[in-house]
Amino acid sequence: MDNTLQASNLGYSPVLRNITLELNPGELVALIGPNGAGKSTLLRLLTGYLKADSGDCRLQGKALSDWSPQALSRQRAVMRQQSQLGFDWPVETVIAMGRAPWETPRDGHIALQVAALTGCTPLWGRKYNTLSGGEQQRVQLARALAQLWVDDAPRGWLFLDEPTSALDLYHQQHLLRLLKQLTTSGQLHVCAVLHDLNLAALWADRLLLLHQGEVVAQGSAAHVLQADTLGRWYGADVHIGQHPQQPTPQVFLAP
Ligand SMILES: Nc1ncnc2c1ncn2[C@@H]1O[C@H](COP(=O)(O)OP(=O)(O)OP(=O)(O)O)[C@@H](O)[C@H]1O
Ligand SMILES: [Mg+2]
Repeated sequence: MDNTLQASNLGYSPVLRNITLELNPGELVALIGPNGAGKSTLLRLLTGYLKADSGDCRLQGKALSDWSPQALSRQRAVMRQQSQLGFDWPVETVIAMGRAPWETPRDGHIALQVAALTGCTPLWGRKYNTLSGGEQQRVQLARALAQLWVDDAPRGWLFLDEPTSALDLYHQQHLLRLLKQLTTSGQLHVCAVLHDLNLAALWADRLLLLHQGEVVAQGSAAHVLQADTLGRWYGADVHIGQHPQQPTPQVFLAP
């Protein structure tokens, strides 16, 4: 089975134009680009939450619009940029919501396993709405992983919109190490919007740079994270250095 996600000439007026890309199994792809570039909109198109005006998006060779909502929900999970809940639910209920597509009543152990993986165990019993922003983000990651859990690990496509925006240093590292470990196993495929280019450089296999609704650069961190490229598309004045432990570019803002 061709387990890729392929977008061909996707357009969503006036936000996105002519987006063609392919996401491959076992990859950790970072979607980067300035505010308003269209990253969140693209994520919605790639996950079937928005319908493109033109072009199409195929998972395993089948157009997203031809998948039943339940079958699609068993293949891909999405963590949004903002996730407020209107109800006063405890953490364990929010994580268990991820199991909705599976109709399996006795899978409470999955919520416990993803909680342990994502650092949510200390939050057990707390009300989601009383958590800090970073704690809520960890619970949303746990919910998304619970949605993709099969047997003893998450499998399928995980889409994350700025998953580290509220996380402290420890939890940024923990989340990216976890995603790297899960994608390297080949069962999980990740596409994450990241504003932190240094996290993307250290952990993503491939970067896609979006600007005003178009993919303007893509490839390895060494290829995409160049001072002239970032200057051109972000308008930022940057210097590129190297990580002290490995030959990965790191981005420094000029003062
Ligand atoms: N339905 C719509 N109609 C018109 N404009 C829209 C629509 N949806 C989003 N936009 C605009 O499209 C642009 C891209 O929005 P999007 O949320 O995808 O950006 P983003 O790259 O995720 O930005 P950020 O980094 O700030 O999260 C924004 O300028 C937004 O205001
Ligand atoms: Mg966004």
